[in-house]
Amino acid sequence: MTAISGSTSSAPAGPLMRARAEIDLAALRANVHALRQRAPRAELMAVVKSDAYGHGAVRCARTARAAGASWLGTATPEEALALRAAGDQGRVMCWLWTPGGPWREAVEADIDVSVSGLWALREATAAARAAGRPARIHLKADTGLGRNGCQPADWSELVAAARAAEAEGTVRIVGLWSHFACADEPGHPSIAAQLSAFREMVGHAEAQGAEPEVRHIANSPATLTLPDSHFDLVRTGIGMYGISPSPELGTPADFGLRPVMTLAATLALVKQVPGGHGVSYGHHYLTPGETTLALVPVGYADGIPRHASGSGPVLVAGKWRTVAGRVAMDQFVVDLGEDTARVGDEAVLFGPGDRGEPTAEDWAQAVGTIAYEIVTRIGTRVPRVYVGE
Ligand SMILES: Cc1ncc(COP(=O)(O)O)c(C=O)c1O
Repeated sequence: MTAISGSTSSAPAGPLMRARAEIDLAALRANVHALRQRAPRAELMAVVKSDAYGHGAVRCARTARAAGASWLGTATPEEALALRAAGDQGRVMCWLWTPGGPWREAVEADIDVSVSGLWALREATAAARAAGRPARIHLKADTGLGRNGCQPADWSELVAAARAAEAEGTVRIVGLWSHFACADEPGHPSIAAQLSAFREMVGHAEAQGAEPEVRHIANSPATLTLPDSHFDLVRTGIGMYGISPSPELGTPADFGLRPVMTLAATLALVKQVPGGHGVSYGHHYLTPGETTLALVPVGYADGIPRHASGSGPVLVAGKWRTVAGRVAMDQFVVDLGEDTARVGDEAVLFGPGDRGEPTAEDWAQAVGTIAYEIVTRIGTRVPRVYVGE
């Protein structure tokens, strides 16, 4: 499994692996630098939720920190606690809470927590009392996304309650924040509307006495294209992994970014079959004539979308092939036509794209999703191999 790896590998040269996701930490580092250049006056939060979008949270968090990310961000408190357990000691924020969550553990572990409503404030203050130290909270405003966050009509009540808790010493309001709905759609009218609502809600909170360390709303697309949205902190996920938030905004190279993950597998079988041979479950592909089939030993259990049946692109024997027939749980087939390959040769599903392989964006287009989903869904059965440290 060396053909695609141009960077210095820290991976042991061992037996061929069925499949692997090579994670290029040098690319990750360079991407953090590129994103910081886009938002030079703001701090950068490396968003490492969902195991760093499938890239491996602990290694990516460490690399991002070394490249200048002063914050880490996760969705769940469990993800944030796992970073602490792995030794991270910097600022970490998590934002997806449910009642009864590990509030006390988070406060004790010095993790910043998001509060979108009074119920969450109550749980944060109770945890702070139990822990004997204030909870650091970021009040989340729903400026138009319509998902998590506090509605403008309820904002002053939430801020007042948080200020009261601050006065009694159970919380510190360290952040005021929000999240965009359409930052990846250039010119979308909701962008200006959300920015204006955010400024207004921050202004109201400050008028009520809140003195946040950080105000933040920008994700990767906003970091890359909306300087007015940077405020004190930008929260970047997908850009850090070297993927453009949307092809409409540009390619990764347009922003000086390089995809971090390369997904490759080792051909498990190569064989001749006659014309008219059905391939994989349901026989949705019939060989057009005598041909050579190659078996790629990854499937939907590894996160390869079953929707890629008949459409997913794969580099095998120097050319793009298309998944022939259905993606099964553990394997799929490509038709090499008149070309040949050997068992043990490499099939590259996606990577940076500069050595002829498809990209995660190509997979997203082929299956009708976004590249975020393609990398994030790669399963735990696929070992991550870190290079470029
Ligand atoms: C609240 C929040 N902030 C920031 C991000 C990072 O977004 P992106 O990956 O587009 O940079 C996410 C990811 O969806 C998020 O949920």
